[in-house]
Amino acid sequence: MTTILVTGATGQVGRRFVPRLLQWVRPDETVRVLVRGEESARHCTGLGAEAVLGDLREADDRKRALKGVDDVVNVAAAFRGVPDEEAWAVNRDAAVALGREAAAAGVRRFVQASTNLVYGAGRGRPAVPEDQPAPESVWGVYPRSKAEAEAGLAAVADLRLVIVRLAFVYGEGDPHLPGAGRFIADWPAHRRLQMVHHADVAQALFRALRTPGIEGRSYNASDDAPVTAWDIHHLNGTAFPSANADAVDPDPWNGIASNLSLREGLGWRPVYPSVWSARDAGAL
Ligand SMILES: NC(=O)c1ccc[n+]([C@@H]2O[C@H](COP(=O)([O-])OP(=O)(O)OC[C@H]3O[C@@H](n4cnc5c(N)ncnc54)[C@H](OP(=O)(O)O)[C@@H]3O)[C@@H](O)[C@H]2O)c1
Repeated sequence: MTTILVTGATGQVGRRFVPRLLQWVRPDETVRVLVRGEESARHCTGLGAEAVLGDLREADDRKRALKGVDDVVNVAAAFRGVPDEEAWAVNRDAAVALGREAAAAGVRRFVQASTNLVYGAGRGRPAVPEDQPAPESVWGVYPRSKAEAEAGLAAVADLRLVIVRLAFVYGEGDPHLPGAGRFIADWPAHRRLQMVHHADVAQALFRALRTPGIEGRSYNASDDAPVTAWDIHHLNGTAFPSANADAVDPDPWNGIASNLSLREGLGWRPVYPSVWSARDAGAL
């Protein structure tokens, strides 16, 4: 009997990952989620998961969630309109505490969902997992809190850690892509956004959970073909701002991350190599 704990099961990523995980696990495996609301707990038990009610910041709640657990996938994060203190508390402090407690409990794999924003400025080529995170150039505490979580988890003795850095996640009704107009408003037409579809995030997390012998490694979950601001406006049915027409992207590698190690190391192949293939498949 194996139990896999997933945090963040109610979020945009988690709510699409958990149903897939429930399909992919063996019959003798249990998926347990840590959720904050009773309705969410009911929803998850309805899907076939075990639910523990609690807050990731609370040591007692983490202890209940971790009881008898074999593997952990830490998807939870606080970054959508939360105060900075909460972002640090959830993204770094609670994640590292969970890692420490998981190691003490003998958990055999701890998968940490992170972000390609930890790379910061471009390096003249796509970022690779071996690159040292440098999130200071990216706005807000979110990238820094995730980078410090990665470093804190990597320093936990005996934690069998695998990090998956996600690009901009979209698809399956997620409002993320339709809402992208806000932050690409001043982008030159040729500036690119590295994306990854929920289906491919789920398989990346699952492969990170299951592939033997990869403890200590990090992977980028990003699709094959970043698309331009012009493409995104087109996909969203918005007009490309003519004022940006002559603007030049000062850092064409900012946010671009290579998926090669995920392909070569974990056998991952994107179901949706670009947002256009997802659009054509009706998977937006
Ligand atoms: N979406 C993207 O484009 C993207 C890109 C790169 C990386 N990521 C990473 O992917 C992960 C998931 O992102 P997302 O887009 O799914 O985020 P999201 O939609 O904001 O979901 C966040 C999840 O974390 C949970 N959570 C937050 N604070 C918590 C706490 N104190 N205790 C327990 N649970 C808590 C939320 O639960 P409630 O429902 O109770 O609030 C929710 O389930 C994050 O680690 C993020 O850094 C996402």
